[in-house]
Amino acid sequence: EMKKKKLIAGNWKMNGSLVANEALLQALLQGIGAPACDVAVCVPAPYLAQVQSLVDGTSIAVGAQDVSAQPQGAFTGEQSAAMLKDFGVRYVIVGHSERRQYHGETDELVAAKTAAALANGLTPIVCIGETLAQREAGQTEEVVKRQLAAVIHVNGHCISEIVVAYEPVWAIGTGKTAAPDQAQAVHALLRAQLHHAANEHAAGIRILYGGSMNASNAAELLAQPDIDGGLIGGASLKAPDFLQIIAAAR
Ligand code: G3P
Repeated sequence: EMKKKKLIAGNWKMNGSLVANEALLQALLQGIGAPACDVAVCVPAPYLAQVQSLVDGTSIAVGAQDVSAQPQGAFTGEQSAAMLKDFGVRYVIVGHSERRQYHGETDELVAAKTAAALANGLTPIVCIGETLAQREAGQTEEVVKRQLAAVIHVNGHCISEIVVAYEPVWAIGTGKTAAPDQAQAVHALLRAQLHHAANEHAAGIRILYGGSMNASNAAELLAQPDIDGGLIGGASLKAPDFLQIIAAAR
């Protein structure tokens, strides 16, 4: 099996300000050295230009947190993939559980957004994961397989351009992390599904873990064979913590 570069992506969610972003990025750039992994920060849309200018030419790439499925036109409040591309955006989070939960995003919409991102040269970070009720009902496998299946056959694009993020909803922002073997078990299922659908490309697809990954649990999670990086919320807002996670990804 080929050795993939891991990806550590911060999801700032709806946090930050001009002043706070600059301080955070300066601290990150000061401490990052030459990372062994790919690094990105996914920032609120109003700050894309600011963040892009601060990290331009560095080892930190810029990501957005959502994208419209539509190319342009009368869609008030939306940002197109082409607009994100225009601002030097490299990654875009698609189908985060907070968007599925609070904005009613369906598997179908998530697939359309994934297609829009790919069509414009952005790398979608597609989020999937079960709720606590689903886990307790023994539905984890069925739920994540259904969510992944929805984005696997995006027409005309190589599936290997996608990043998958497994974020068990019960572990998001709760301080409750999936145990490394528990996360690995789901990642292995997803890997098998990707292998079945994309055969020779499957090994190159990065599957990130998200859900209360932090400076103290990152190394153990990232040591699992099918965990190829992390999507980090809270801990990505603190430079020392995010830097420690980056250092743990080798
Ligand atoms: O997208 C990352 C995320 O949902 C995990 O958030 O705060 O638990 O690391 P957090």
